[in-house]
Amino acid sequence: MIPIHTLIPIDKASATPIYLQIANGIIHCIRSGHLRKGLKLPGARILADTFKIHRNTLQMALDELVAQGWLEIVSRKGTFVANDLPVMRPIKFSSNETLAHYPEKTIFAVKKMGVESYAQTNFQQDRNLIITEGLPDIRIAPMQQLMREMRSIEKRSGFKKYFNYGNPQGTLYLREELSSFLSDTRGLSISSENIIITNGAQMGLYISANLLLKAGDEVVVAEPGYHTATLTLERAGAVINRVPVDDYGIDVNAIEMLCRKKKIRLVYIIPHHHHPTTVTLTPDRRMRLLNLAAQYKFALIEDDYDYDFHYSSSPMLPMASLDRHGNVIYIGTLSKTLVPAVRIGFVVAPKNFIEEATQFRRSIEFQGDTLMEIAIAELYKNGTIANHIKKAIKIYKDRRDHFCGLLQDKLSDKINFKIPEGGMCIWAKFMDADLKKVAEKASKKGLTMNNGETYNRIKNYNATRLGFSSLNVKELEKAVNILVECI
Ligand SMILES: Cc1ncc(COP(=O)(O)O)c(C=O)c1O
Repeated sequence: MIPIHTLIPIDKASATPIYLQIANGIIHCIRSGHLRKGLKLPGARILADTFKIHRNTLQMALDELVAQGWLEIVSRKGTFVANDLPVMRPIKFSSNETLAHYPEKTIFAVKKMGVESYAQTNFQQDRNLIITEGLPDIRIAPMQQLMREMRSIEKRSGFKKYFNYGNPQGTLYLREELSSFLSDTRGLSISSENIIITNGAQMGLYISANLLLKAGDEVVVAEPGYHTATLTLERAGAVINRVPVDDYGIDVNAIEMLCRKKKIRLVYIIPHHHHPTTVTLTPDRRMRLLNLAAQYKFALIEDDYDYDFHYSSSPMLPMASLDRHGNVIYIGTLSKTLVPAVRIGFVVAPKNFIEEATQFRRSIEFQGDTLMEIAIAELYKNGTIANHIKKAIKIYKDRRDHFCGLLQDKLSDKINFKIPEGGMCIWAKFMDADLKKVAEKASKKGLTMNNGETYNRIKNYNATRLGFSSLNVKELEKAVNILVECI
């Protein structure tokens, strides 16, 4: 209950009787929205005590309000603000009175963050046909096991300590499990000290960008590229240099030319399944890039957001596993491995970087979600995550093949694409259709797709990403049929 006595000043010297001052004050609070319809008022004795008046005086005020219809008494339950209020005339507030509505705008200027330039990210709609982006199929994720682990934390002896404040670097338990997992599967010879757990890959990127950059620092990104990362780097002060991507990944010659001309501080890459084009950076380019990084001492942020899903032979090990000089900041996430709502990401880097990142993270939040971290650690430990990855790779590979087959059968004269070796999307170049119109029409028919706005801004490729992993075969067929109708 809000402390209404602070909103209703009582003037004992006034000619208006105290009970009326209180009744008028309560009416004002109801009209101003401070006391909402149906709200239960404290008992008369408590109210009298808070106003420091005699209970009879308070009762007179309540009787008056009931008589006027502002309050109603429900037997054996108490006194409530009436649901059916007397007709409320508009009231004019003088400058020192409270407002009827929460202010719509601040009185001061606020920095514009350009939110409209992010791709659409809210997929919490009741539609099942979403091919925007590479999304995991949330229906096959081991959510029951995850919830079971969450529930069991409370019951396990020795786990109660996790209800306390913890370490902004992430719980040691998860960092240990993760470092073993990453050593076994990605060739990273690291320990828990080389990891900070973050709220998704995006937070890892934000922290890294802010630790590395100051205003005016030269940064290299790929074109086309991952717009959200570019924006994050820019906000940390980066001057962006864009270099092209071809079928073999980012153009390392172009990066070398830039290094000769200016002091490059950071290169942001997605070498495994480049976002948006899905291409994999070739081994020789990787080695050349690592050598350049060592020679020119720039930081390489390796964003490996969907490492797990590779469908040809074996996935290429991260560049971080070959780093001998301390150039690479490696970023990963469980958003695609499990579901995006599990906000567990990680940064792997030399210890000094992780220590600073931990300090920096403390100014964003004291720590991550310990309970989720513990539950995830259990899933790593008991093999649930490894088993899920195995299962999901099979399913997503079939879906990729089916989706690409459908597109080849039905849209080969409208869309150009290469079958991706990994990831959860294809990079689809539309030959002459207007992508925005296609996306608009598709949306009306129940299919949500990316209209490519963020990818075609610097250069118009008339292309977008079409995700295949979150839909089953039947749904993919429906989605492609809608695409056929809309192009
Ligand atoms: C290339 C890339 N990096 C990072 C992310 C962010 O992932 P997270 O959900 O873990 O913040 C995404 C999300 O799609 C992505 O495409």
